[in-house]
Amino acid sequence: MKERIYIAGAGGMLGEAFHKVFGSDFELKCTDIDVNAPWLEYLDFRDRQAYIADVTGFDPQYLFHLGAYTDLEFCEKNVDATYLTNTISVENAVFIANQLEIPLLYISTAGIFDGKHEEYDDWDQPNPLGHYARSKFMGEQYVVAHAHRYLVCRAGWMMGGGKEKDKKFINKLILQLLSGKKEIHVVNDKDGTPTFTVDFAKNVLLLLRSQCWGLYNMVCKGTTSRLEVAKELVRVLDLADKVAIREVSSDYFKDVYSAPRPPSERLLNKKLELRGLNCMQDWKTALREYIDSYYPGIKSELAQLS
Ligand SMILES: NC(=O)c1ccc[n+]([C@@H]2O[C@H](COP(=O)([O-])OP(=O)(O)OC[C@H]3O[C@@H](n4cnc5c(N)ncnc54)[C@H](OP(=O)(O)O)[C@@H]3O)[C@@H](O)[C@H]2O)c1
Repeated sequence: MKERIYIAGAGGMLGEAFHKVFGSDFELKCTDIDVNAPWLEYLDFRDRQAYIADVTGFDPQYLFHLGAYTDLEFCEKNVDATYLTNTISVENAVFIANQLEIPLLYISTAGIFDGKHEEYDDWDQPNPLGHYARSKFMGEQYVVAHAHRYLVCRAGWMMGGGKEKDKKFINKLILQLLSGKKEIHVVNDKDGTPTFTVDFAKNVLLLLRSQCWGLYNMVCKGTTSRLEVAKELVRVLDLADKVAIREVSSDYFKDVYSAPRPPSERLLNKKLELRGLNCMQDWKTALREYIDSYYPGIKSELAQLS
């Protein structure tokens, strides 16, 4: 008999990878408010009673609480909705996991740091700058303080889901390239670390198998920046001599990306390393793998445009 995992908020970038990685070894129930795949069912985890009833009815061995509002500008403008979704719903998840006496997985973010240091290990003190980051940090703190058994895994700049689901940096750049742009503006003052969703899911599986509960930084290996990631993406897509990356400061995007963002959100997977459980790949390898596996045919599509 397969063990069961209930995955809440599974309709996004990360949920797609969790469905793929955990789907063969476990029986899954995947829910979201955005039912965008046949393997998803509807559940709004802000509805405490519905969340309790649905998870209890499935009677899983693990509860994965993945979902959140992840658009920083939306979060700055919709503060109550943000805390209801990103923090209070996590309190619901902790209640359910404790009642069923099962471990809880919660996903936090590298964005909870203020960026005054170049990089952060698992024990550095967060100091969130905006409401998204604060709501995620409050969720993290609640899990650590109250869940009986938990994994809190902090992701960096998410790469995952491909054209259909990737709402973040990589797909934003790809959309510009597909629109025929030959010049792309990229900030030169933001450091961080990408996180390939599939590698992240595999590393969570490793932690779960080893039962090393606790809080972990979980990002790709290596240190980098928005600028370097953009340059590497253009190289991976064979467009290095056809597309120019123009360096700008964050000020250039101040109207579009108005939410506060730290100058550095680079994480070190110190605890994973010390436990010998770090299976995250180098970010360049992961980026190449992401493009090859999630954007088949993109290179020839782009070549035809140039
Ligand atoms: N994306 C990143 O760069 C990043 C970085 C670090 C950490 N994280 C964390 O990783 C986790 C997964 O994020 P992701 O990258 O997969 O983001 P995503 O693609 O935005 O997926 C999040 C999913 O949660 C859903 N959701 C929102 N409110 C919900 C509710 N009340 N009930 C059920 N589902 C709800 C969203 O639906 P809607 O689309 O309809 O809102 C969306 O389908 C989140 O906890 C996020 O904070 C993300």
